[in-house]
Amino acid sequence: MGPSATRVDGQVKVSGAATYTTDVVLPQQVHAVVVQATVATGRIRHIELAASLAAPGVLGVLTHHNTPALEEVATFPQGPAGQRMAPLQSDVVYFDGQPVAVVIAETRLQAVHAAELVQVDIQPGSHAPSLWTDRPGAAPLSIFGESPDSVRGNPDAALAAAEVRLERRYSTPTEHHHPLEPGATVACWDGDSLTVYDSTQWIFGVREALCVTLGLSQDRVRVQSPFVGGAFGSKGMVWPHVVLTVLAARHVGRPVKLTLDRGQMFTLLGYRSPTIQRLSLGATASGTLTALVHDTTQQTSMFQEFAAGVGFMSRSLYVCPNVAVRHRVLPINAPTPTVMRAPGEAVGSFALETAMDELAVTLSVDPIQLRLRNHAEIDPHSGMPWSSNALRECYLLGADRFGWDARSAAPGSMRDGHLQLGWGVASATYAVNSEPANAWVRLRADGTATVACGTQDLGTGTYTTMAQIAAEALGLPVDHVSAELGDTELPRAPHSGGSQTAASVLPAVWSAAQSVIAQLNSLAQMSAARESPNAILRRHGLAQIEGRSSTPSPGAANRFAMQSFGAQFAEVAVDPDLAQVRVTRFVGVFGAGRIVNQTTARSQMIGGIVGGIGMALLERTVTDPRSGRVVSPNLSAYLVPTQADIPAIDVSFVEEVDPHVNSLGIKGVAELGIVGVAAAIGNAIFHATGRRIRDLPITCDTLLGATHG
Ligand code: MOS
Repeated sequence: MGPSATRVDGQVKVSGAATYTTDVVLPQQVHAVVVQATVATGRIRHIELAASLAAPGVLGVLTHHNTPALEEVATFPQGPAGQRMAPLQSDVVYFDGQPVAVVIAETRLQAVHAAELVQVDIQPGSHAPSLWTDRPGAAPLSIFGESPDSVRGNPDAALAAAEVRLERRYSTPTEHHHPLEPGATVACWDGDSLTVYDSTQWIFGVREALCVTLGLSQDRVRVQSPFVGGAFGSKGMVWPHVVLTVLAARHVGRPVKLTLDRGQMFTLLGYRSPTIQRLSLGATASGTLTALVHDTTQQTSMFQEFAAGVGFMSRSLYVCPNVAVRHRVLPINAPTPTVMRAPGEAVGSFALETAMDELAVTLSVDPIQLRLRNHAEIDPHSGMPWSSNALRECYLLGADRFGWDARSAAPGSMRDGHLQLGWGVASATYAVNSEPANAWVRLRADGTATVACGTQDLGTGTYTTMAQIAAEALGLPVDHVSAELGDTELPRAPHSGGSQTAASVLPAVWSAAQSVIAQLNSLAQMSAARESPNAILRRHGLAQIEGRSSTPSPGAANRFAMQSFGAQFAEVAVDPDLAQVRVTRFVGVFGAGRIVNQTTARSQMIGGIVGGIGMALLERTVTDPRSGRVVSPNLSAYLVPTQADIPAIDVSFVEEVDPHVNSLGIKGVAELGIVGVAAAIGNAIFHATGRRIRDLPITCDTLLGATHG
């Protein structure tokens, strides 16, 4: 268990010295604004630009008429999914909000004003309305390289024969990420060399996508992203505005900044698809699972398939012998969905872990006991042993910290004065991911060091953990080590998604630092005397020693099933007259391998739990099914939790040594924190009120309308 070193980038952040993409100001820089379609489908008949071009400060307008042909590229190069639409390539409109023009002007206000003067005449078509019409979908080709369907045993027969059977429909709405910093790009051409600042989860992915799209060579393109103001998956892919900024800069021959406004965050950076999930459980009267069927329908766009692994955790979490998991997607006239914090598990766990609670109620079994009874000793999906699995310890420690023993089982039986109290629990799990990464470490004769890796820090603490691991390997205090990241001039690193940054980058940092130590040792052996590292460097006349790491092997992925686990406990207080729900306590306990930094890891889990509280009670993007338009694209209609919505959150990690995942035993933490939270809260609401809500978010109107049971 690592220390609680404070953030090495804390001071530059709180003092405002950290330069986010939105803060970048280049000489001669001008501003671009995206003009968006206002119908969900159709063909552009005419774009009237005269008023816009005549407006003050306007330098140019891009439309499909004057935009060069672009190479269609998956905007997640070599990755699992992306938005395959090169912008401004034709007159076809696929969704309300699609970019149809870009206005470039001297100031942002001038560009905003001129964008409003662009008149786009679109011949509307008839659009595919929404997921909620419940049409049958088609199986996606793949979900992040995995088959969308899997079966073991004979689930239909087992379900039919089960002593106890439960068949339920759950749903989750469209959600949008809303990091503090919106999507933003600055592009600057110097001859045929291009520098791009972008708020992104993957600088090398941005570089590759731009090079393919625009036919550029990689050595001419540099992408920088030293600070990212949150992402949650919204910046995991390369979206059209990035390409448009680069084209705009070329069009006007000046550096161009493009910052999305909050409303554009609802259409231009992807979203979490709504889901309809049908989940059936079969069990013996004593609570042993005999069948599990998890069918999910989600939506995608008309021009690109994207699907999340909503049911994947249902294959592995419990030791059920008969399991079917299926995924279907429906194309509709909407933007392409994307990953959003624990893309499948966050919503899949709502269905699975609510159904487990419903089964516990049906059987009159304690919900923790039901889960322990069905604990998977090995991964039942792959048949492989777990590299490590602390789920049981998470339940037990969580129950202890929460005081679960004092729970009275009957719904509605616990009170705090006038308020109904409810206690709920759910499991969490998330895959352990990693990809090859590279790093260098330089130790200088003055006893300081620099560690560098072309990764990203989304606010998660990557600067801090890189400095910490290098300092530990070199035997230096953390404040003697500075970290550099967010620049394609640095050694290549993977996408900061899938909770894989620490597990990918830190083993590379460690091995680069080990190479420094090895060089130091061989220098030291040339002398008999014991010397300090700086003395050794000075005696050899060296200003510094550099160690580079090649990519360490990604671990024992083919011999072990690698997952992190957790247990989430919620207390809610419900006002019975107003149906107002408050989460009053929350306990999360996690087994995530080595925790490099308690402070930053704990913050990530708190962030995940806050996101889960939002999912459970607040977050929902409403689209008008007739027009296909987001009804209120702003944060006064899309509610995210505020301080007043958040109780004390108690996060702990169980000690877990995992020798298999990677050289440092790191599993990763980011996404795990949100998994199971909405189910734990819904289960607590049932316990408080006897009302079972199977559609998120759980609001006072759904709660007032719900019937018992
Ligand atoms: Mo995460 S949703 O892979 O950024």
